[in-house]
Amino acid sequence: MSKYPIAVIVGSLRHDSFNRKLANAVAKLAPAEFAFRQVQIGDLPLYNQDDDTNQAESVKRLKNEINGAKGLLFVTPEYNRSIPGVLKNAIDHASRPYGHSAWTGKPAGVLGVSPGASGTAMAQQHLRNILATLDVPTLGQPEAFIQMKEDLFDEFGNIGAESRQFLQSWLDHYVAWVIKHAA
Ligand SMILES: Cc1cc2nc3c(=O)[nH]c(=O)nc-3n(C[C@H](O)[C@H](O)[C@H](O)COP(=O)(O)O)c2cc1C
Repeated sequence: MSKYPIAVIVGSLRHDSFNRKLANAVAKLAPAEFAFRQVQIGDLPLYNQDDDTNQAESVKRLKNEINGAKGLLFVTPEYNRSIPGVLKNAIDHASRPYGHSAWTGKPAGVLGVSPGASGTAMAQQHLRNILATLDVPTLGQPEAFIQMKEDLFDEFGNIGAESRQFLQSWLDHYVAWVIKHAA
């Protein structure tokens, strides 16, 4: 098992999601002792507090994956100037029952890509608000508001040459953040 397993939470269920592509490409920039694994959130039921004492198997699976991770990476689209409902649903599930949140203390990074010029800035800000109350230490700088352009990815799904230096630098900061909090 790798030294730093990272749970990657992609906020889109879309088959050809740009954010999933970004998550895959960024993971390739990481050092060998980091292992990025995307968690599944599309099969979670709608959150209902009545189920807190009897959580669904998919919720238990999600919580186990978060518990086993040394860090979190959120890669999310912006929907109507906030985070998608599927992402909020997953966050709420793994935060419960009260006192048994899986998120507490896990160092996190936030990324997002959108065809719009604001590059998920509002969604990321909303997400940071949520992560703060969950006691998730979240990398503040550099921020990464990425606009989807044709050359963002190369033909192999890697980060394209134009954005590589910036995203490598972001990833290096993220790696240092996780290591610092794991110590
Ligand atoms: C319901 C909905 C709301 C959206 N709202 C925004 C928005 O507020 N800001 C934005 O930049 N893009 C918005 N978009 C466009 C998304 O950024 C775009 O569909 C993007 O490709 C979604 O990410 P994905 O490719 O990872 O699925 C919205 C898309 C949908 C379906």
